[in-house]
Amino acid sequence: MVFMQRVSMTIAFCLLTFYGSSQDGADLFKRTCAPCHSIGGGRLVGPDLAGVTKKADKVWLTKFIKNSADVIKRGDLKAVAIGKEFNNLLMPPFGGNDNELSSIITYIESKGGSVQAAVADTFLNAASMVNVIRGRALFSGHVSLKNSGSPCITCHSVHDVAGVGGSLAKSLNLSYIMLKGQGIKALLQSPPFPAMTITYIAHPLNDQEIYDLAAYLKNISQTMVKGPTTRTTFPFLLLGIGGWCMFMLLLFGLWRLRKRLSVNHAIFARQMATEK
Ligand code: HEC
Ligand code: HEC
Repeated sequence: MVFMQRVSMTIAFCLLTFYGSSQDGADLFKRTCAPCHSIGGGRLVGPDLAGVTKKADKVWLTKFIKNSADVIKRGDLKAVAIGKEFNNLLMPPFGGNDNELSSIITYIESKGGSVQAAVADTFLNAASMVNVIRGRALFSGHVSLKNSGSPCITCHSVHDVAGVGGSLAKSLNLSYIMLKGQGIKALLQSPPFPAMTITYIAHPLNDQEIYDLAAYLKNISQTMVKGPTTRTTFPFLLLGIGGWCMFMLLLFGLWRLRKRLSVNHAIFARQMATEK
C-alpha cells in the first residue's frame, strides 16, 4: 500500500513536471498557483499575490515557493508572520524546476495590480440540506463519482462518517473554516496536492459534485464546532423509533411462532401417545 502510494506520488510529480516544462509562466501559474492565489483579485486560500515581488526579493520568493514550511521552520520572521496569518495552512512545495519558478515569478511581476479586499464568499449561499446529504454520500463512496474518481474517504477522515477514514491525508473536519466555499471549490477544481492531483487529473469532479462536497464540508465544520443541528438529529431520531418498532414487532412475531410451535408439539405428542 505504502509502496503504491509512493509510486503514484512519484508519477504525479513526473506528470506535473512534464506538463510544466512545456508551458510558460501564465499557464504554470494558472495550473499550480491559481487554485489558491489570485493576482489582484482578492484573497483565496492563500494571500492575493499582487505586488508581492515589490515586498520581497526574488531569492526569498524562490526559497519560499520551493518550500514555505522549511523557510517558516527556520524562523524567517516574514515567513513566520504569513504562516501565522494563515493558521499554518501551509502551501505545498513547488514541484517544478528553477526555470519554471522563475517564469512564474516574472509573470506575477508583469501582472502588477494591487491587493484587493477579500471577495465576499457567496459560493455556498444557495446550498441546502439536499446538497449536504448528496455531498456526504459522494464523500463516503455510497454514491459513485460521475467520472469514477476515488471517494474522498479513501484518504481523508471526517467526524460524521462511521468507520475509519483514510489516514493518508488530514481530517477535513475543520477545513471549511480556513478555506471557505471558494477555497474548497478552487481546490477541488484543480487539486494542487500531488496525491489528489494524480487521483482526479483523469477523473475530474463535475460542478455539481464540487458544490455538494463543498456544502458537506461546510456542514461538518459547523457540526464539529456547534454539535449536530436538530435538522441532522431528526432523521436519526425517526430511524431510532422506527428501529425500535421493528424490533418489538419481531419479538411479538417470534413469541407467537413459539406459542404455535408448542401447541403443535402438544398435539403431536398426544397423537404419539394414543398410537402407542
Ligand atoms: C494549496 C494552496 C496553495 C497553492 C497551490 C499555492 N499556494 Fe502560495 N500560499 C498559500 C498559503 C496558505 C500561503 C500563506 C501561508 C504559507 O506561508 O504557506 C501562501 C503564501 C504564498 C506566498 C507569500 C505571500 C506573501 O504575502 O509574502 C507566495 C509568494 C506564494 N504563496 C506563491 C505561490 C506560488 C507562486 C504558487 C504556485 C507555484 C503557490 N503559491 C501555490 C497557499 C497556496
Ligand atoms: C489519494 C488521496 C486523496 C484523495 C482520494 C482525496 N484527497 Fe484531498 N488531500 C489529499 C492530500 C495528500 C492533501 C494535502 C493535505 C494533507 O497532507 O493532508 C489533501 C488536501 C485536501 C484539502 C485541503 C485540506 C486543508 O484543510 O488544508 C481538501 C479540502 C481536500 N483534500 C478535499 C478532498 C475531497 C473533497 C476529496 C474527494 C473528492 C479528496 N480530498 C480526495 C489527498 C487526497
